Amino acid sequence: SVVAVDDTGLVVGHALLSRLRVGEGAGLALAPVAVAPEWQRKGVGELVVRAALAAAEEAGEKLVVVLGDPDYYGRFGFIPAQRHEVSGPFEVPEGYFQTLALPGYDGSPSGLCRYPEPFEAV
Ligand SMILES: CC(C)(COP(=O)(O)OP(=O)(O)OC[C@H]1O[C@@H](n2cnc3c(N)ncnc32)[C@H](O)[C@@H]1OP(=O)(O)O)[C@@H](O)C(=O)NCCC(=O)NCCS
Repeated sequence: SVVAVDDTGLVVGHALLSRLRVGEGAGLALAPVAVAPEWQRKGVGELVVRAALAAAEEAGEKLVVVLGDPDYYGRFGFIPAQRHEVSGPFEVPEGYFQTLALPGYDGSPSGLCRYPEPFEAV
């Protein structure tokens, strides 16, 4: 979990990575990403996402999945998940379920994603 704070220490941005199953392997899910309304469109979202992805890369992770606007997540290198032969458990418009291959990616994992149980409640 990565947070951004303002000068007073108030949390104004947040990005969370959770372990998820991808086929027989494992990846990370990026969700949620949230920035306080008065801080949006100032680069905070990009900062927390880049910090989370850098930590994932440093930890040797291979693949990150995200469900969101391709116009936003494309800037981080996310591409439609089917190009990595990954599918999601959600019915969403084409292109919204996306994957990012980190440098350690070697063609796997692939397959159907299974999110941790708390995600079933949202
Ligand atoms: C989406 C969100 C995380 C982006 O964070 P941010 O700090 O506002 O974004 P950044 O400043 O890093 O980047 C700004 C750019 O992102 C894009 N962007 C911002 N919000 C967007 C949105 N809701 N949809 C699509 N693109 C968006 C725009 O291109 C924007 O550039 P512009 O201001 O020049 O048009 C933030 O707006 C937010 O918390 N929104 C409400 C919650 C949400 O929708 N979360 C996403 C869950 S997948």
